[in-house]
Parts: sequence; C-alpha cells; structure tokens
Amino acid sequence: MLSDSINESSKQLTKDGKLRHLVSLENLDKNILMRLLFEAQEYTQFKKLPDRIINHNQEHTIANLFFEPSTRTRASFEIAANRLGFNVINFDIENSSGKKGETILDTVMTLKSMGVDTLVIRHKEAGIHAQLVQDIGDECIIINAGEGHISHPTQGLLDLLTIQQEKEAFEDLTVTIVGDIAHSRVARSAAQGLTTMGVKELRLVSPKEFMPSKKLTSISKHFTNLDEGLKNADVVMALRIQHERMEDTNNINLDNYIKNYRITHKAMRIAKPDAIIMHPGPMNRNIEIESSLADGEQSVILRQVANGVAVRMALLNQLTKNHEAQ
Ligand code: NCD
Repeated sequence: MLSDSINESSKQLTKDGKLRHLVSLENLDKNILMRLLFEAQEYTQFKKLPDRIINHNQEHTIANLFFEPSTRTRASFEIAANRLGFNVINFDIENSSGKKGETILDTVMTLKSMGVDTLVIRHKEAGIHAQLVQDIGDECIIINAGEGHISHPTQGLLDLLTIQQEKEAFEDLTVTIVGDIAHSRVARSAAQGLTTMGVKELRLVSPKEFMPSKKLTSISKHFTNLDEGLKNADVVMALRIQHERMEDTNNINLDNYIKNYRITHKAMRIAKPDAIIMHPGPMNRNIEIESSLADGEQSVILRQVANGVAVRMALLNQLTKNHEAQ
C-alpha cells in the first residue's frame, strides 16, 4: 500500500510566517494561497517588466532539475523564470552525474557551489524536498515540481487559479476528481488546496484498486460510482492512470475502466450544465476523457496550462523576495 509522507508545512515558512520554500500545500495558510493566486492573476495579463526588476533578477540563478519526465511543468517554470529575468539553467539529467551514482544531495551541493540560488526539483522519492529544505534550506530556495505520488503543489495552485477564474466562490463549489486517485500527486495537492480554500464538497471517484488507503483530506468523500460523484458537480477533473507508479499493471482492466470511469459528454449530463472540465495533462485521449470533450466548450485544460506560467511567476517572485528579506 502506498504511504503518504507527512510534510511538516512549518519548515517551508520563515520565522515570521512567510513562504520560504514550496514543499507542499498541506496546511498552508489560506492567506498565503490567496496572495499567490492574486499575484498570479496579475501575471495572466503579462507585460514586460521594468528593466530595474529584470536587472536585479539576473543576479539570481534558478536550476530546473527534473528526475522524472515533464513537459508542462518544466517548460512553464522556464518561461516563468525567463519572463521575470532570472538566470535559468536546465539540468540535463540524462547526461548528469546522477547516472554515475551521485546522490541528489551531492548534485544539489555541487550546483549550490556554482552559485545556484533556487532549485526546482521533480523526483520520484517521497520526502526528498523536505529533506533538502532541512539540509540546505538556509542557503537555497527549494521548490517541489512533483514528488512521487505525494504532492505537486504548483499544479495544485494552477488548478485553484483556474477554478477561481471560472467560478465565483470556492465555498459554493462541488469539485469532483475522477481517476487513479491512489497514485496521483495532482489529486493530493488539489485536494489540499481546495480544502484550505473551503469548497463545499470534494468528491474523489475511482475504482477500488485506485482508491487511496485513507481519506486525502478531512472533507474528501470517496466514491466508486461515477454518477454519484458527478451529480451536480461544478468542477470535474479527470486524471491519467499512473502506470509508472505501479509494480504490476497486468491486472488493470482498461476496458472496464473506460466503461465505468471515462468522462464523456453523456456522463457530464449529470453534472451542472455550466460545469468545467479539467485535466493536468498529459492526457490519454479516450481513456480517462472523451477526446471531443477535452476540446469542447466546457474544457479549461489549455487555460490550466497557461495559468501554470502565471502561478510559477508569482511563486518565484514571492519566494525570492522573502529569501532576500531574510
Ligand atoms: C502530472 C504529473 O506529472 O504529476 N502532470 C503535470 O505535471 N501536469 C500528471 C500526470 O503525469 O498524469
């Protein structure tokens, strides 16, 4: 059974409660989330920043270290950093010393010695980001860009921003997440963020084999029946089956999954007529989501991608400011 590491949220804050690193959305104060969402919303209408800010940020180096595959997260961190004028290096893991047996701590220490200030890290190991905060967090900023099945806080933030743009108040919303909940870091971070923002209902729908061993948050309700989960939902999020996180994929009955859990036009009739459809990507079209639905009017999937840049700009800006103020 998969475990959920306990991320001690306080470690990612400064002594006076400001965000110092981003490890997890778990127990992160609502005000911190709102400040990030507010600034991210401003960046959605991005205009070139004044030279004064760009020149200042050029002194700060951000390294992107992706030990697992990524398209959206990696590209959007790079675009966000470039727009703010930061000096960015993208680390080529395939050709790095990690392949020669170097530990991640040694890799990170090496980069730090060269003057890297912020480390954006995606890694399969649970707890790695919290560990790095403990080991080198006084000198560097650590950002979680995906941690095994445990958490993906910047995805959670962009999901919150997308929902906020489309819907009025979180307090009135029923949000339904459908798919491989057990192995999904996206579901965990979204659930944590939505719980803090105070949604009315948070429903998680999956077949038994993809059900997590315990409730994701205090308010999450778990369903095995798609119709029950979708009834009157305002927001529906489909998830990819995380084959790469399973030891044995032989007993997944894909036909059954498609029949009972695929989000289709027909299935969506039971949700609210103005419900939005989300997906973190990459999509497996016609498995977890009907292809034409992903491209249809209710879909906000590409908006999520665009918001990923804005959210990461807000995060990089706030973390570097809080770091400099130390
Ligand atoms: C997700 C991830 O890597 O967790 N993708 C993303 O970051 N947008 C979802 C997935 O891989 O299914």
